[in-house]
Amino acid sequence: MTSKTKLQKITEGKAVVWAYPEEVPGEAVFYNPRMKTNRDLSVLALKALSGRLKKKMVLDGFCASGIRGIRYAREAGLGPVAFLDTSKAAMAVCRKNVRLNKLKAAEFIQQDFDSFATSGRCFDVVELDPFGTPAPFVATAVRLLPKVGVLSVTATDLATLCGSKNKPAARRYDAQPLYVEYAHELALRIVAGHVVRQAAMQDVAAVPVFSFYQDHFAKVLFQAWRGAQAADAALEQIGVVSHCMHCGHREASRRPSCVCGKAMAVAGPLWLGDVNDDGVLSVMKKGTKDAKLHGLLDLLAGEIGLPPYFFDVHSAGRGAASPKMDDVISRLKTKGFRAARTHYSPTAVKTDAGLTQLKAAIAGSDEFVRKEKN
Ligand SMILES: C[S@@+](CC[C@H](N)C(=O)[O-])C[C@H]1O[C@@H](n2cnc3c(N)ncnc32)[C@H](O)[C@@H]1O
Ligand SMILES: [Zn+2]
Repeated sequence: MTSKTKLQKITEGKAVVWAYPEEVPGEAVFYNPRMKTNRDLSVLALKALSGRLKKKMVLDGFCASGIRGIRYAREAGLGPVAFLDTSKAAMAVCRKNVRLNKLKAAEFIQQDFDSFATSGRCFDVVELDPFGTPAPFVATAVRLLPKVGVLSVTATDLATLCGSKNKPAARRYDAQPLYVEYAHELALRIVAGHVVRQAAMQDVAAVPVFSFYQDHFAKVLFQAWRGAQAADAALEQIGVVSHCMHCGHREASRRPSCVCGKAMAVAGPLWLGDVNDDGVLSVMKKGTKDAKLHGLLDLLAGEIGLPPYFFDVHSAGRGAASPKMDDVISRLKTKGFRAARTHYSPTAVKTDAGLTQLKAAIAGSDEFVRKEKN
């Protein structure tokens, strides 16, 4: 064993844990430093949501070193925390970490997540952070929620979700991905849609309140509450996105043929509604001074109310001189369209304008049609 593969003390947020300093394939206790932003933002989101919960019991369902549960207790004021993992080595390190961080209310469960569903227990916050896809565990996670709770989900199988292979996405998520410029947004929305549909099967409404994508993962936090009518209402925001591979037209409905006459490809079913809640984002912002996180939270807030896709400005404006994002956005806005940057890509714009209008805005033309008032 090299020094690299020895457990070391690592500080993350207000937690100090024994972990491997970098992702070591095949090591028994998994810790990925590249997931720090995911954990930082999950802490902030859960802190923002904690006032909506009756109690604050957490199930850190795939705990590994226990870093999430420890941070949720120390930084978001949640607890008691139950740490669960199938790995004996993980549970041993997790116990050590819980002691090191002086968490008083903790329990340790070495068990398979799904088999724990029969425990009859309930947790106000259920954390789902497995390797790869969370899909097989969603139904169990929903079963473990009380009347009102929060489900926190990470998916790292983005290659599948972005449509590099269709069959696994169909199997895991019962959904069709699409390999287009906004594939990562569709991926996040497929995960969200899957959770909403699985929850609805148990008469539970799950609604995304905080979500973002980064590098290799999609993170979605849901507020969930029991009730058939609420579950029906959540299902109303499930639908598809149609995309024309010929002209690039896209829209949030099923449309067999495009305005250009060609057949359209379809992604979904997926969540079409907002994936972030404005109120949650602004409380999160107040909870951190980190400029990078502020930037990301501002981008997420700007996306609210815009369509479930975006346009890459460079590919839309092919042939035109490199357009300035701010100019394109302000031109669209002067014509009455909504437009904003997106966290998915620095060269993309989210807008309710169509491709023709966007192309005119990129070209700097003033002759494009003003948005009609509804
Ligand atoms: C991605 S890691 C979790 C990372 C951790 N949450 C963090 O933030 O550092 C996934 C963990 O799930 C555990 N695991 C795998 N299959 C499981 C199952 N069926 N039930 C419970 N835990 C499982 C693995 O042992 C591993 O520790
Ligand atoms: Zn077309």
